[in-house]
Amino acid sequence: MKQDMPLTAWVNDRFVPLDDATIHIEDRGFQFADGVYEVIACFGGIFHDLDAHLQRLQYSCDAIAIPLPRPLPELQSLIQQSYGLNPFNHAMIYVQITRGVAPRSHLVKEQLQPTLVITVRELPEPTKEKLTHGASAITRADLRWKRCDIKSIALLASVLGKQEAESHGVDETFWLDEQGHVLEGCATNCFAVIKGKLVTHPLDHQVLGGITRQMLLRLARSHELQVRERPWKLSETGLTECMMTSTTNAVMPVCQINGEIIGDGTPGPITMQLRQWILDEFELLKG
Ligand code: PDD
Repeated sequence: MKQDMPLTAWVNDRFVPLDDATIHIEDRGFQFADGVYEVIACFGGIFHDLDAHLQRLQYSCDAIAIPLPRPLPELQSLIQQSYGLNPFNHAMIYVQITRGVAPRSHLVKEQLQPTLVITVRELPEPTKEKLTHGASAITRADLRWKRCDIKSIALLASVLGKQEAESHGVDETFWLDEQGHVLEGCATNCFAVIKGKLVTHPLDHQVLGGITRQMLLRLARSHELQVRERPWKLSETGLTECMMTSTTNAVMPVCQINGEIIGDGTPGPITMQLRQWILDEFELLKG
C-alpha cells in the first residue's frame, strides 16, 4: 500500500473513505469518553496476537457494561477486512467502541446501540537511533483514574504525560504510585532488570494488562529467565536495565530516566535479547 493511497474506515455498519467518516456529535465517546479501544499490529498481513486483543476488548466492554456491537468472530472479520482495504506492510489497526449516541446526560437509562469505528494506519518502525542508543523517560506521580486495567478512551492524563515528555525532550512519562514504584508509561508497560531478574509491576487496577507485556513474560519464562511481577523502584540496588513494551514499539530499551543513566547507558543485553525473541516470534508467525 502506497502512503498517499486513500484510507478506508469502518463506521458502525459500513466502510467509508476515511476523509468522509463521521460520527454523531452526541456520541458518548465524544462527550464523555464513554468507550474503550484497542490498537493491534499487523506485520506483512499477519496479526500480532489478535485473539488476545479481542479478549481484552471484551474485558474492557464488560467492565463498563457496553455490549459488544457485534459478536467477537464478526469483529475479528471486520478488523481483517479493514486491514485488507488498507494493507500496509506494517499496519496499526485502531478499534474503538463507545456506548452510543444519546442526548447528553451522565445517566443512560436505555440500552444504546454502541458505536464501532475501525481505522488502519501505517505503523512507523522505531528509528535505528532509538534502538542503538535507547529511549529516555521522565517520571511523574500517576494522575490517572483507578481502573487502568480497562483500555478506556479517556486518555487525558496520558496525553498530558506525553506532552510533558516531549517538552523535556524525552520519549515517555512513567507513572509512579504514591510510594514511588514504577507503574507503567502513558502508552507502554515498564520493565527493569534487577539482579539479573526481569521485574515488572503486577497486574492490578494501576496498570493495563499489555498484550506485549504478556508475550514478553511468556518468552522470558520459556527461556528460563527469572521473572518477578512485583512493585519496583528505580532506586533499587542491582538495577541494570530498563525497557518499555507496547504493540507499537515491541520492546524498547530505556537508557535514561529523569536525566540519570540506567546501567552503562546503552541498551542492555537482556532487553535486546527479549526484543529479538519477540521479533523472531513475529517471523515464525509469517511462516
Ligand atoms: N497503548 N499501558 C498503557 C497505558 C497503554 O496505553 C498501552 C498500549 C500499553 C501496552 O499495551 P499493549 O502491549 O497491549 O499494546 C500499556 C496503545 C499502543 C495506544 O494507546 O496507542
